[in-house]
Amino acid sequence: MRNSKKRLALFASGRGSNGEALYKAMQEGYINGEFVVIITDHGDAGIVERSKFWNIPLIVIDRSDYDSKASFEQAQLDALEPYKVDGIVLAGYMRIVGAPLIERYEHRILNIHPALLPSFPGLHGHQQAIDGGVKITGCTVHFVDTGMDTGPIIMQNTVPVLPDDTEDTLSDRLLPIEHKTYKEALRLFCEDKLTIKGRVVYIED
Ligand code: GRF
Repeated sequence: MRNSKKRLALFASGRGSNGEALYKAMQEGYINGEFVVIITDHGDAGIVERSKFWNIPLIVIDRSDYDSKASFEQAQLDALEPYKVDGIVLAGYMRIVGAPLIERYEHRILNIHPALLPSFPGLHGHQQAIDGGVKITGCTVHFVDTGMDTGPIIMQNTVPVLPDDTEDTLSDRLLPIEHKTYKEALRLFCEDKLTIKGRVVYIED
């Protein structure tokens, strides 16, 4: 028997294509979860436009409206509390998540990164892969810890890097793979099939 639907927060700063792919997979019943709130740090992020018809509360928490990192992070915690979320899905959220949020939602925050971690963490994962001369790159869905893209890895998938690739062409090739990988990883999370032991995530069949 399926467990009850997971209540999830979506954090996004930009275009929002991963968020949309996940939303659709929830609508289709592939992922046993629902976004109950969307939090963005940019009022003009693509996700704002995309989510207009989803009927999900959207909250803008802009770092520049706060005097300190601590008060910004407290605002995120306060905004989330009423929604009683089981997990947080970072999808193109371009900030490091603060320790208070990570402690409150330990092992319940997921992120997608456009490279095969632990290679090429941080910004411009595609360009780093091109500059690094690797022949294969990919995406990584991982749990978030206090480091920069250092948390336990849930799932990875690969694409080739071609000799004439630019950041844009590589990103276009990888994006559908990101959507597929995140859908699968979040499906497993929502079915309680992921167990973390040390740095290793075990997937229950
Ligand atoms: C993706 O490449 C994701 O891996 C990275 O930021 C990008 C977000 O794209 N973290 P989108 O906003 O989901 O379209």
